[in-house]
Amino acid sequence: MQVVKTAQDVRGLRWADPTLTWGLVPTMGALHEGHLSLVRRARAENDRVGVSIFVNPIQFNRQDDLDAYPRDLERDAELLAAEGVDLIWTPSNTEMYPPDFQTYVSVETMTAGLEGAARPGHFRGVTTVVAKLFNVFQPTRAYFGQKDAQQAAVIRQMVRDLAFNLDIIVCPIVREPDGLAMSSRNVRLGPEARQAALVLFRALNAARSAWENGCRDGDRLRDTMRAVIAAEPLARLDYVSAAHPVTLQEIEGETEQVLLSMAVFIGDVRLIDNMVLKTGAVE
Ligand code: PAJ
Repeated sequence: MQVVKTAQDVRGLRWADPTLTWGLVPTMGALHEGHLSLVRRARAENDRVGVSIFVNPIQFNRQDDLDAYPRDLERDAELLAAEGVDLIWTPSNTEMYPPDFQTYVSVETMTAGLEGAARPGHFRGVTTVVAKLFNVFQPTRAYFGQKDAQQAAVIRQMVRDLAFNLDIIVCPIVREPDGLAMSSRNVRLGPEARQAALVLFRALNAARSAWENGCRDGDRLRDTMRAVIAAEPLARLDYVSAAHPVTLQEIEGETEQVLLSMAVFIGDVRLIDNMVLKTGAVE
């Protein structure tokens, strides 16, 4: 496994043998089983696997959030070596954003709501960095988690709109045994908050039960999730959504498929979770 910093080194290794397929897993480090599930999928589907680790400053809209982001390259590298990763790329801030940097990629309509509404500028930062990672690395396939459902949908849209020459693979949410979606933020939950955090998955499951009992109405699905969150004293709802899984438009009336998603503060920790439901199939 090689650990490199510069775009030039990445290109050299990527194109050493142009007949090989490469999978890229973009991350911000602080790796957990969620990230490793993407790495394993990439390992199974490609000749070579690269992982980028870059805490992207322009996707954080709060300086304290950026400063608090956990960083531990040594541990991350050990985990990735054990997964048989070929290349780790840890670009520097100045290589990604030199002082005269002035070009941004912005996906419009579908970034207005949900995480985009709660975190202004966030998706512009994500799509800009991911576009640059793709341009340097030129992977055959790139892997993203359904955990960040809007991010995955926005990146798919960007790849379609700008004709990037690669396949986007979206992998299922990895959960703790009790259902909490894995996240690098979970370490900030104290014991009581950790218990309260289960309310997100409980709310999604309540909506799933309603769906299984025939409820297809956007408002009723949103109300079902809201009621569960409201019953948890430590939880403060940021948003709840029942939207089309591809366009992310909120469902008005009835639907055959829905992306249920939410953001909830447990104390000062903001957690997100989601679930896709389709007629005749449950994910
Ligand atoms: P990061 O939060 O490090 O996540 C990297 C990838 O891991 C994302 O595609 C995310 O959806 C996935 N992931 C995180 N938790 C997961 C879980 N519990 N189950 C499945 N997948 C999970 O997302 C980012 O970084 C950044 O925005 C990035 C795309 C790297 C651009 O900076």
